[in-house]
Amino acid sequence: MNEKSLTQKSLQNFLGKDDEKIQYLDIKKEQNRKKKTIVDVPKPFLKWVGGKRQLILQMNDYFPKEFNKYIEPFVGGGAIFFYLLPETAILIDVNKELINTYNIIKNNVSELIKSLKNHKNEKDYYYEVRSKDRNPEEYNKLSDVNKASRTIYLNRCCFNGLYRVNSKGQFNVPFGTYRNPKFCDEENLVSIHKALKNVLLINDSFEKCLDFAEKDDFIYFDPPYVPISRSANFTSYTKGDFGKEDQIRLFDVYKNLDERGCKVMLSNSYSDFILDLYKEYQINILYAKRAINSDGSKRGKIKEVLITNSF
Ligand SMILES: C[S@@+](CC[C@H](N)C(=O)[O-])C[C@H]1O[C@@H](n2cnc3c(N)ncnc32)[C@H](O)[C@@H]1O
Repeated sequence: MNEKSLTQKSLQNFLGKDDEKIQYLDIKKEQNRKKKTIVDVPKPFLKWVGGKRQLILQMNDYFPKEFNKYIEPFVGGGAIFFYLLPETAILIDVNKELINTYNIIKNNVSELIKSLKNHKNEKDYYYEVRSKDRNPEEYNKLSDVNKASRTIYLNRCCFNGLYRVNSKGQFNVPFGTYRNPKFCDEENLVSIHKALKNVLLINDSFEKCLDFAEKDDFIYFDPPYVPISRSANFTSYTKGDFGKEDQIRLFDVYKNLDERGCKVMLSNSYSDFILDLYKEYQINILYAKRAINSDGSKRGKIKEVLITNSF
């Protein structure tokens, strides 16, 4: 389906009701009822910098009780999507490899599993797979399944489980020396495959959500954060950084969605810039463990903001 030509009506047909999804939601409700911690199936298939799993229990109080479709314009590893498992959803990210991987899990999970089983957790083999994007012509000859399989394999076996590319878009994380990394979690991939059945995946920038968002939809933004210190300026998920102008463009989108009557939530760092930009909205404080910091002594809890409009 070409998402650019999607109208709201065809989207509704595309995102129809689904028994399996309803079953998942029932399991989820049951888990919440018993106040269990997060033992979700499916769970994120990639480790992603800025992943929200550790914050879900704090965020839980702020999610809207009811909403129509769910839209996540910076989906990354998708921790919140996998937690909420909404009936209808649109997931967007500017990272082409990431969206290709979601698409392959959705459309061709059995070939993906076959391909993942061929990988080996060996240093020389890892660097051979990693080097495939050094020659763009050769890289483009890889099938989408093999590209997705490479993305998952590298993410699971690399140092610290990162996704990071250099300015040429080449994956540049060294080998991780994990003893037994789970790069082919067949059961989880099949669960994700089912969960994605009625989800529209879009490789585009966050503004794309404006084409789809309507009153009572829930939109969650988890952009690259405004850096709070020099050591924290990690924004290289893709080629190019996410600067102040992008944060301002994002604010304009937030405001536009608020005016449409959407339920809008946004995570960012606790920084003067963000506090000032969103001052007309509710600014809630969360505490996160710092995962990536070059200075090991600073791995304490840091403040983050979770901004909501009225819902
Ligand atoms: C903080 S991460 C999201 C983490 C995610 N919530 C999770 O739990 O894993 C930010 C994501 O935004 C994406 N991104 C960066 N610039 C973007 C843009 N202009 N439009 C859409 N996505 C963008 C990156 O590729 C990355 O996946």
